[in-house]
Amino acid sequence: GAPDPCVVVIFGASGDLCHRKLMPALYDLFVNHGLQESLAVVGCARTAYDDDQFRELMAQAVAEAGLDLARWDAFARRLFYQPLTYDDPASFAPLRHRLEVIDRDCGGCGNRIYNLAIPPQLYADVARSLSAAGMNQSDGPGWLRLVVEKPFGDDLQSARQLNAALAEGFAEEQIFRIDHYLAKDTVQNLMLFRFANAVFEPLWDRKYVDFVAITAAETLGVEHRAGYYEQAGVLRDMFQNHMLQLLALVAGEAPPNMDAERVRDEKIRLFRCLRPLPADNLDGTLVLGQYAAGRVAGQEVVAYRDEPGVAPGSLTPTFAALRVFVDNWRWQGVPFYLCSGKRLAKKRTSIDIQFKQVPHSLFRQALGEHITSNRLSLGIQPEETITLSIQTKKPGPKLCLRTVGMGFDFRAGGEPMHDAYEKVLLDAMLGDHTLFWRQDGVELCWQWLEPLLRACEACADRGKRLHFYPAGGWGPPQARDVAPLLADRNED
Ligand code: BG6
Repeated sequence: GAPDPCVVVIFGASGDLCHRKLMPALYDLFVNHGLQESLAVVGCARTAYDDDQFRELMAQAVAEAGLDLARWDAFARRLFYQPLTYDDPASFAPLRHRLEVIDRDCGGCGNRIYNLAIPPQLYADVARSLSAAGMNQSDGPGWLRLVVEKPFGDDLQSARQLNAALAEGFAEEQIFRIDHYLAKDTVQNLMLFRFANAVFEPLWDRKYVDFVAITAAETLGVEHRAGYYEQAGVLRDMFQNHMLQLLALVAGEAPPNMDAERVRDEKIRLFRCLRPLPADNLDGTLVLGQYAAGRVAGQEVVAYRDEPGVAPGSLTPTFAALRVFVDNWRWQGVPFYLCSGKRLAKKRTSIDIQFKQVPHSLFRQALGEHITSNRLSLGIQPEETITLSIQTKKPGPKLCLRTVGMGFDFRAGGEPMHDAYEKVLLDAMLGDHTLFWRQDGVELCWQWLEPLLRACEACADRGKRLHFYPAGGWGPPQARDVAPLLADRNED
């Protein structure tokens, strides 16, 4: 159904996330999801814009995102700007008043989304300022929701502290922790694919699956985010969140229904089955890398260490390949290979289920042929496809096998694919938590990853573990053992 009318308040409205993702997504929702009468948007940041300056900047942002501005004027009439200082509750009083006026003028009923598109160090300040200004509690029937971006802490302790700070003023049901991967159509499809088809699930276990590879390869480098990334590195940036969510979706059990809490319960159950990582001996478990200079898509690019804001001797990993086991009945002994890196040859996120070999080859003696095993490749992006590789006879007089793909392409139906942020914002408006992190999941994932982070960041070992790889390739060759499909990528 359509969401209730609400005012979306974006903290960090002068920032990159608001420009690139939030504003285009809100505009698109406004135009295409019937929110013309029900949505108002208020940008907040320290910069002293007025409404018109802000509208102009946002029109540019929306145009840069490739959207048609035909409905811009109608949207702009419901777009406002209010400067404030995040840690000064006094500056929130005028915002509170303004929101009340805007809400009344725009036909709202007191519903608010507070979207924190600000650096995580400021989350607690804003949450406290909102509470101090009495903006965490509704006077009437309206709901108030807090939407936060990752990172949710940088280890278990800081994640707990952050949560405690948010929990001072907001209940768990009010908090929406974004993982934009979960809102991608192809990621949402994982549960549908598994549980709306009867033929795959019987094969989805240790008896038939040889291994599972989850790969998130990026061509982008660190961009302008060195300040954050130098501290985070790839393990905190991609593994603690997106990669583990993908793992939970591909390996978890079926929830009884699609109720948000039941779906999130199953993820928790799966996180509890993650085998503790052997932090004292990571050989064969983890390979870390950092990109050196190279060429990506025909362009010369600099080494990570030469990026603006990166320390010249930085030991921050930009690539990791990690072998993970899920200790439960279904998956005992099946390796899950998680691999993600920046400045690789191609943008490609996928989940590959590699099935076991046929138990006996009828053809080997006669033809000397090795029979390639079946593989189910679930493309997440940018190729949004599902392909099952099968063996067939090559036409001709000789008995020869060849591998072909049975495929499905999400785009074949011609429906437009939407940006994940539209889904994130729409679900927050609808109050649906299914695609958001619950705090217990955040904590379990930090708890599991922390021994690894400590082992990798121990001073003596740090340099030894890091392998440099040329930008534009497929990561360090040392990763082959823990990323068995990387070599294949070269043949793509
Ligand atoms: C973000 C990470 O969460 O995900 C980035 O902080 C990464 O470093 C990005 O580039 C990848 O997202 P996507 O949707 O482009 O795969």
